Amino acid sequence: MQAGTIGRVQSPRIIRIGGGVAAETPDVLGQLGLSRPLIVTDTTLVELGHVHRVTDTLDAAGFGWSIFDNVVEDPTDTCVDAGLRALRGGDFDCVIGLGGGSPMDTAKSISFMAVNGGHVRDYKAPRQIDKCGLPIILIPTTGGTGSELTRWCVITDTRAPEKYNLSGLACVATAALIDWEFTVTKPWRITADTAVDSLTHAIEAYVSRRAFGYTDAFALSAMPLIVNNVRTACTDPENGAAREALMLAAAQAGMAFSNASVALVHGMSRPIGAHFHVAHGLSNAMLLPDVTAFSVSAAPHRYAECTRAMGWSSATDTDSVACGRLVDGLRQLNHDLKVPSPAALGHVADPAILTLMARQALASGSPQNNPRVPSENEIVELYHDIW
Ligand SMILES: [Fe+2]
Repeated sequence: MQAGTIGRVQSPRIIRIGGGVAAETPDVLGQLGLSRPLIVTDTTLVELGHVHRVTDTLDAAGFGWSIFDNVVEDPTDTCVDAGLRALRGGDFDCVIGLGGGSPMDTAKSISFMAVNGGHVRDYKAPRQIDKCGLPIILIPTTGGTGSELTRWCVITDTRAPEKYNLSGLACVATAALIDWEFTVTKPWRITADTAVDSLTHAIEAYVSRRAFGYTDAFALSAMPLIVNNVRTACTDPENGAAREALMLAAAQAGMAFSNASVALVHGMSRPIGAHFHVAHGLSNAMLLPDVTAFSVSAAPHRYAECTRAMGWSSATDTDSVACGRLVDGLRQLNHDLKVPSPAALGHVADPAILTLMARQALASGSPQNNPRVPSENEIVELYHDIW
């Protein structure tokens, strides 16, 4: 951080974190004077029993509630509209987003679209949405996105293949209940992808041009927790210590990137998701080693500090050596986590699509936070390299 830099932080009023903390939902609602939530989630989470873990506690506390469980993966504008109709169909005083990034981001969007007119695309970043709707309580069940602590959400447009960022105070939860016990049922692939999403948040927040001392601390704390626990969580899914570490890291990385922003990996990742429906964490993983190799020369000391924090390099290694170890370590991590290339998944990108994706990446604003800001052609070349 440059001396004299001003940092600006937005975060939830209440954060509760630890095994079993989801059972404290009625207590948190009571603290906030709330009692009639609309629970925004998806049918898988209902079937897994995760939703019942929360609704049983609401029933026991005598709170009325209703469920909107039609959230789709990579939530769309029409999904938000359906949720808005559910909200307007009842007498609710808050929205609970329960699940991975998709339900949480949908809950945020339902809340702010209830008081902001027009279409959700009218609000895409860099516009800031500060007019807040009903209080938002977020209960993550996967970890990774860190959405429970961020001022960001992502919605997919059904008019054209585009995922856009939405940001502002209206996207910040009132309360976050972060309970790692939900995550022991996560399958191998989702465990790997959400962990790499968190790692990307931490690295991008640390090297971002918008980083400052407060966000640095969260980013540097999250990185070793992720790289030292992701393999264990994948191979031993009920390992509580590994799950708890990854959930904590996802939250810390969320706090870091929410306020320092993400950078080129996320800028290029969203178009891959929008055009080819690759899971967000997986498209980040496909990009992370090559985008890091592209970027290190512009901020070698910052990238070297990431490597040292992860234990992949010693304090006596030069920055140049540490940067090389970072790229090597990320490639090894992708190998261990069986990250395929887009082509290996059968995705074919013609030059026109890659050019469109590069333009969408630049328009999102994220690449401009990168230490090395790429041209449109350089982004197209990076897409070619990872394809
Ligand atoms: Fe992400």
